[in-house]
Amino acid sequence: MPASKDFLGLRGLTGEEIAAILDEAAGMKRRLTGAGEDGGTLNDLAGRTVCLMFFEPSTRTTQAFAAAARAVSAKVVSFSAGGGTSTSKGETLLDTARNLEAIAKPDVFVVRHKSSGAPHRLAKHVRAGVVNAGDGWHEHPTQALLDMLTLREHFGRLEGLRVAVVGDVRHSRVARSNAWGLAAVGAKVTLVAPPAWMPERAEVLGAEVSNDLDDVLPRVDAVMALRIQKERLGSDPGPGGDAYAAVYGLTQERMKRAKDTCVVMHPGPMNRGVEMTGTVADSERSLVLAQAANGVYVRMAVLARCIRGLDEGAGT
Ligand code: NCD
Repeated sequence: MPASKDFLGLRGLTGEEIAAILDEAAGMKRRLTGAGEDGGTLNDLAGRTVCLMFFEPSTRTTQAFAAAARAVSAKVVSFSAGGGTSTSKGETLLDTARNLEAIAKPDVFVVRHKSSGAPHRLAKHVRAGVVNAGDGWHEHPTQALLDMLTLREHFGRLEGLRVAVVGDVRHSRVARSNAWGLAAVGAKVTLVAPPAWMPERAEVLGAEVSNDLDDVLPRVDAVMALRIQKERLGSDPGPGGDAYAAVYGLTQERMKRAKDTCVVMHPGPMNRGVEMTGTVADSERSLVLAQAANGVYVRMAVLARCIRGLDEGAGT
């Protein structure tokens, strides 16, 4: 696969392309946790600069990208939009990026933005590579990659796995990237949501759909719970926290319906007691912290891939 300077989404990638990135991430993990060059740091991106541009809140994703960039010896420049930055004065994303390009000469921008398509537009106008770290309701490709790496490590395969993605599917970029990515690698995805939170054209996501978690639960190998995207609900708030939890919350009682081998996942941030009880989140079934840890390795692989694309002069 010719590398691109940009990494914008999983839609349209083949199973082989996704497997190649997961293999590279697994290789990064082996190298970093093994002997390590230079005391636990690899030199793959030495002399390169990664600029983090986060226009929406983030904990795991920013920290994992920063840790990933440092682990491959890149310099990290961070910009997060808030009261004290030029965004609050009305500057556009492109102007901010161009100015940061002039100041820090980054090789890769990592962008999170509330508008779907914002990283794609930026990628056309900057020399640097662009990685999508979450654009609106659209995609969050590195999250889905870390979810897939975690599942592949746990089960030893992705093909044929049955995965339920449960909750506020409609407003979730995590659900979209996982639906496209998991389908490409041959997993079977069921999107489970209350009617208000099922996307209008769920069929374009290539998954089965259901409103009934208790019916789906006995058949799946993994349940991925999604956070209720309160900030995106607008005029249709859907079921409130308690009503939602009663029907879709992953409780110990509900998990009795699942296979003993069924694992639970969550991209974070998690509302304990709503999407999942604390007991389930902290149980042996939970892969939540393995997901967070794998976030570093997939981002190392994605950054390295963008740098190869940049060096080979390939566009998106
Ligand atoms: C997700 C996001 O921002 O899309 N979080 C994350 O990156 N770990 C999911 C969410 O906010 O619910």
